[in-house]
Amino acid sequence: MSSALALLLPPVVSPPPKFLSLRLNRLSLFHSSPSLSPTYIWRATSRRFFPAAKAQSISIMASENVGTLKQQLAKLFDESLRATIPEELDVEPLIAACNPKFGDYQCNNAMSLWTKVKGKGSEFKGPQAIGQALSKNLPASEMIESCGIAGPGFVNVVLSRQWIAESIQKMLIDGIGTWAPKLLVKRAVIDFSSPNIAKEMHVGHLRSTIIGDTLARMLEFSNVEVRRRNHVGDWGTQFGMLIEHLFDKFPNGEVASDQAIGDLEAFYKASKQRFDSDSGFKERAQKAVVSLQGGVDKYRKAWTQICEISRRGYEKVYQRLGVYLEEKGESFYNPYIPSVLELLSQKGLIEESEGARVIFIEGKNIPLIVVKKDGGYNYASTDLAALWYRLNEEKAEWIIYVTDVGQREHFEMVFTAAKLAGWLPAEDNKYPKTSHVGFGLVLGEDGKRFRTRSTEVVRLVDLLDEAKSRCKAVLIERGKSEEWTADELEQTAEAVGYGAIKYADLKNNRLTNYTFSFDQMLNDKGNTAVYLLYAHARICSIIRKSGKDLEELKKTGTIELNHQDERALGLHLLQFAEVVEEACTNLLPNVLCEYLYNLSENYTKFYSTCTVVGSKEETSRLLLCEATAVVMRKCFHLLGITPVYKI
Ligand SMILES: *[C@@H]1O[C@H](CO)[C@@H](O)[C@H](O)[C@H]1NC(C)=O
Ligand SMILES: *[C@@H]1O[C@H](CO)[C@@H](O)[C@H](O)[C@H]1NC(C)=O
Ligand SMILES: *[C@@H]1O[C@H](CO)[C@@H](O)[C@H](O)[C@H]1NC(C)=O
Repeated sequence: MSSALALLLPPVVSPPPKFLSLRLNRLSLFHSSPSLSPTYIWRATSRRFFPAAKAQSISIMASENVGTLKQQLAKLFDESLRATIPEELDVEPLIAACNPKFGDYQCNNAMSLWTKVKGKGSEFKGPQAIGQALSKNLPASEMIESCGIAGPGFVNVVLSRQWIAESIQKMLIDGIGTWAPKLLVKRAVIDFSSPNIAKEMHVGHLRSTIIGDTLARMLEFSNVEVRRRNHVGDWGTQFGMLIEHLFDKFPNGEVASDQAIGDLEAFYKASKQRFDSDSGFKERAQKAVVSLQGGVDKYRKAWTQICEISRRGYEKVYQRLGVYLEEKGESFYNPYIPSVLELLSQKGLIEESEGARVIFIEGKNIPLIVVKKDGGYNYASTDLAALWYRLNEEKAEWIIYVTDVGQREHFEMVFTAAKLAGWLPAEDNKYPKTSHVGFGLVLGEDGKRFRTRSTEVVRLVDLLDEAKSRCKAVLIERGKSEEWTADELEQTAEAVGYGAIKYADLKNNRLTNYTFSFDQMLNDKGNTAVYLLYAHARICSIIRKSGKDLEELKKTGTIELNHQDERALGLHLLQFAEVVEEACTNLLPNVLCEYLYNLSENYTKFYSTCTVVGSKEETSRLLLCEATAVVMRKCFHLLGITPVYKI
């Protein structure tokens, strides 16, 4: 029987999804999204889709939450704009951080407003006059200390020290959650990590796993309900050979334990070798695929077993990395493919081309193949079915795919097909929307793709082991094995070692390639996790050594930002929300890393010029230390790094 025949068989119903980890983030609030209606309704009884309302773009109102510093200023300038030029209703305030010589923030509307009103009998004689009016018409606010006009009408704003201090103090009491940015989406799917069953996770999976986890953490912090989706490769023709090889090794059908199978990677290689060299085996393997897809019990069981063993391997890596994922592998979407393709067919999108069924996309040289010549499905068919499911069954407003940059073209074509089908709005700034989060390669110190000496791929577990043991060696060298318990030593070595690997990856713009170097990432100077974790531990130590009860100080003390380095640190703390917002909106974790590094630099400057313990400003400065530690810990948390409290 050929594999084409397999497709004539009815699709099997997938087993219930397996959870790689049961710990989903239940803390993130559940939001329903009534404004998003499904495009089609899947009726399980008739195995068909029925059209529902057309896909809608969602417009979500700005919330009454105070928002980021920038948003709060924008609100004030919005009022001022209405009062200054009431006839221009659709002008949005343009607020940006400005050169510290002139102030903290800047409103940049005057120039463009001038070009709009010029020659229309306006009372204003130029952009500078508009800037002056914008400044004069600002509603009274405790936020602003002073405003100045520069150049062609830029309004420079100096924020009030007292307001900055009070905002920080409020956060210390109410918690850093009150500084979470408000985003326009309520529910997102992030498709990341996604290893292939029966293959070991290697360094190539590192980036997707780490970047995807950080994006999920940042969105969760911003009160978005996130589905952390592990789209594992658990379906395809390779399972025929794996299953036949399993049958040969365990002819009596006994349950194969992890030990009995041994290294799953070796098992994969052995079956591949037989497939390539033994034609009898190859034929059996091809038949096994058909039996598996036809739902024959014995084959389903063997498949389940192989997936289980694989899963246990991943789970160990995820546990060490502190990453949680919910698995819905390729097999999950398989039963949906025929109906989804039928939908696309009804829209006239699918055409025959050289024996295959394809979707032509304008501007692309090759079409998107959705059914291969031999009748089989491929990545594109699975990805279209998964996208349909995420939009219509899971009601996701934002679907994010974290894969290497090489797959960008593929996803662009899938997204375009979804737009042509009316599943997604044509405009990129409307919801629901999809984003491809690409990333570059991990390079070895020779500048080539990172490999071990034997040119094998680098196993992820080996990297984690080495990072940990190097950190442990340093701690022992510093005499920590005498000072600390064995547990403390282990936990600190893991926090610093794994944190170093993550930070070295995340601090780069994800689109670039980066060089993997233990020596660099474990350096305790410079922009590394080690340096930042130590900086945090030092702040904690200062607070501990003061002997003061911080909980009490938060209630009774007051923060004052009289020294310029205190003020700079305070302002930087307050910018946390807008940085997280920017990192989320542009899907760029490196922005948060940069913020964290700047924070530690601002703190160091403050600490070198302002005496904390024993000074007359001790209470205020201890509270500033505490606020710095709180924000640093939140940054670590969002980057998936475990903070340490002593060094
Ligand atoms: C990353 O490395 C690959 C392979 O050497 C190269 O083709 C690509 O241009 C590099 N990407 C960037 C952004 O430098
Ligand atoms: C960090 O500091 C650099 C140098 O002052 C500055 O250019 C950059 O905008 C800062 N970034 C963040 C996110 O604070
Ligand atoms: C201190 O914070 C400001 C932002 O408020 C940033 O622009 C500056 O680069 C930081 N300073 C250092 C030394 O990183």
